[in-house]
Amino acid sequence: MVETPKFQKVANKSDLREGGLLGVQIDSNRIVLAMVEDKIYAMNAVCSHKGAPLEEGTLLGYDLKCPWHFALFDVRNGKVSAKTVWAKDLESYPVQVDQTTGDILINVSSSGGGSADSVKASGTK
Ligand code: FES
Repeated sequence: MVETPKFQKVANKSDLREGGLLGVQIDSNRIVLAMVEDKIYAMNAVCSHKGAPLEEGTLLGYDLKCPWHFALFDVRNGKVSAKTVWAKDLESYPVQVDQTTGDILINVSSSGGGSADSVKASGTK
């Protein structure tokens, strides 16, 4: 039997603005959502350097700047910039946005996605 990916609702698109960040929690995972060009990305919110809360950082294009020592992470894949090698790559997570309700769902059980796939809502109108 094929296991269904575990997408869980974490927020709504209306909670975010363009260029904005939002911290959410799934189980023990702290995750930061970022909106760039109307797409949502999700990655680990704990900086791999000294553990800063990345939802308090700054988004510069696709780069999330850590609020403490300014490491740069690409929100699309969680990778640290070659310019800020004191931090290590972080996990990123697949995102789905329900086009009808605007609900943001992420799947923390399969890492490495990062891109903002959109899904059509089925049924409810
Ligand atoms: S805690 Fe993020 S760069 Fe140091």
